[in-house]
Amino acid sequence: MMLFLQLILTIPTILAINVLNASDYTNTIEQLNLYSPEVKYISKSESSLDLDTLGVIQESIPIQIPVHYNDVLAYKFKPNLSPELTHSYQLLVYLSASLCSVPDSWNTSDPFNGMNLFYTFNETVAKSLLYDDMMLITFQNGFAEGLAQSYLHNDRTDYTLYIIIEPSECDHCNSDDVWNLEFAASQTQSLFVYDTEPRISVIDVDYNSILFEADHKIFASNRSYSLQIFEGEYPIPIGLNQSLCFIKANPNAKYSLRLDQSNSTSFSNVFVISDLTIAEQYSAVLVVDFTDIVYGGGVFQPFSFTMSKSKSCKLVYGLSFCNEVAYSVPISSNLLYDKETWGDFVSQYDNYSESYYQPFQYAMQQIACDTELDARYSPIRTCDDCMYSYKQWLCAVTIPRCVSSLNAGPFNKVYKAGTGRNKFIEETINPPLPYAEVLPCYNVCEAIVRDCPADFSFGCPEDPELAKLSYSDPSYNILETDEIDMITELEEDGDIYRLCNYMGEKNMGLPV
Ligand SMILES: *[C@@H]1O[C@H](CO)[C@@H](O)[C@H](O)[C@H]1NC(C)=O
Ligand SMILES: *[C@@H]1O[C@H](CO)[C@@H](O)[C@H](O)[C@H]1NC(C)=O
Ligand SMILES: *[C@@H]1O[C@H](CO)[C@@H](O)[C@H](O)[C@H]1NC(C)=O
Ligand SMILES: *[C@@H]1O[C@H](CO)[C@@H](O)[C@H](O)[C@H]1NC(C)=O
Ligand SMILES: *[C@@H]1O[C@H](CO)[C@@H](O)[C@H](O)[C@H]1NC(C)=O
Ligand SMILES: *[C@@H]1O[C@H](CO)[C@@H](O)[C@H](O)[C@H]1NC(C)=O
Ligand SMILES: *[C@@H]1O[C@H](CO)[C@@H](O)[C@H](O)[C@H]1NC(C)=O
Repeated sequence: MMLFLQLILTIPTILAINVLNASDYTNTIEQLNLYSPEVKYISKSESSLDLDTLGVIQESIPIQIPVHYNDVLAYKFKPNLSPELTHSYQLLVYLSASLCSVPDSWNTSDPFNGMNLFYTFNETVAKSLLYDDMMLITFQNGFAEGLAQSYLHNDRTDYTLYIIIEPSECDHCNSDDVWNLEFAASQTQSLFVYDTEPRISVIDVDYNSILFEADHKIFASNRSYSLQIFEGEYPIPIGLNQSLCFIKANPNAKYSLRLDQSNSTSFSNVFVISDLTIAEQYSAVLVVDFTDIVYGGGVFQPFSFTMSKSKSCKLVYGLSFCNEVAYSVPISSNLLYDKETWGDFVSQYDNYSESYYQPFQYAMQQIACDTELDARYSPIRTCDDCMYSYKQWLCAVTIPRCVSSLNAGPFNKVYKAGTGRNKFIEETINPPLPYAEVLPCYNVCEAIVRDCPADFSFGCPEDPELAKLSYSDPSYNILETDEIDMITELEEDGDIYRLCNYMGEKNMGLPV
């Protein structure tokens, strides 16, 4: 019994699921009242700059500013030279900007935005507007980022950074054309960022709900994350796809959901969104706001997902025994016709699975697990490993992973309404609609053989034809070639099919 408890405590579990309510969406755009230093607009024909009259940009305080085609904007930033902020005698200033709009006539399918940011620490260069001697950052995808650096010399005390913002030469532009941008300088961080990772992944969908898992990293302090969800294709043009202000202000977002980490558990990074529409395609993008400064943040790589085309499967999660199950399973007739609650539906599956665990647990107590290492059945496999693998296998075979038969791939096993892999499915669940099963991965079975004492005589079907009836496994299926990549998904004609249900991170790898 001790062992069993210990096991429960050490397995990562999805304890708390954050249920987000899609009907509670907000589309409010924050009204920002950002600091605006006096701006120095000069004309393009000017050949020198009066440096004393330039507005001063403050550390970590962004400015929002319109820039017309004929404008040249100039600012200065006065770095703090204290030792904490100057690394190894080097001064670093992070410059970053987000473009909120481009002129109406501008082609937003083009990543190039026609806007430039020049900077220099050299007073002579700034005063005489020697553009060729300045550093240049060009705006692309609605975003600009750069790092201004200078070594500190004993004989120099002034390290003012001069910043000039101006549109590129352009044939079709005129003086009415206006770009709106947000820009900031900081000695500690980029205030506007974008990341090539989505930082959030789809675990599974059914016809109206989706289960997401967010990267743990997104719950850092001083950060607030929200997910913008759009119906259909991602509507943000590539010309502005890395712009925080453009994406946040986009009126097409159907839902904008704040992802709050409940601090009550350590695994609250799984979210559910319900109220979505059957068979609909959605796209989504994660947005972060920095909460310890006036304003700043970033956007991540967008992603898309499609809801199931039929009501044959329902997402289950938060099970008490099969605590790593978080996927769609065959829906019951009772749940589809509102004769039982979702909670009862879930616990039926969980109870059925747990009922098979008792006999195994008794058998396990006969094995010398708590004794010294050399008395154990194997020096590298413990009883905990065996119990874990057995439980994962049990959950995978008693709680079938389901996809709508209309979304099924070539490796999935299709069942008619009223049928299933066992009597429990056929009689208790009584699937009201045809569905397809994503069979457990073959290595979920191999894990028990690997991890459990030989006394149990566990074995997996060796005849490929027999194995195919109960398991699916990409490495198993391509065994004739030398390739043994573990893939769990297959892409065909733009659709992604899940090849097998691997049940738990530990079972992702190849058998040892
Ligand atoms: C979701 O919103 C609807 C409508 O506002 C409300 O009836 C329902 O109780 C909410 N559900 C949750 C889980 O908050
Ligand atoms: C806009 O830019 C894209 C990408 O550079 C290009 O393929 C397209 O032809 C441009 N459209 C117009 C109207 O110029
Ligand atoms: C500033 O730039 C001018 C002109 O390019 C150059 O002659 C001068 O040496 C530079 N000063 C410093 C401190 O780098
Ligand atoms: C989370 O932490 C904050 C700050 O410590 C606290 O105020 C709040 O009550 C905590 N929430 C939960 C659910 O524990
Ligand atoms: C969060 O912001 C506060 C206030 O600026 C700061 O003191 C704290 O160190 C920040 N926390 C982290 C983890 O950066
Ligand atoms: C924006 O579009 C570019 C193509 O110009 C693409 O490479 C990039 O991944 C996109 N970024 C985001 C955050 O959507
Ligand atoms: C599952 O088992 C628990 C604990 O024994 C029980 O409370 C619950 O009612 C059972 N659920 C169903 C649907 O039978």
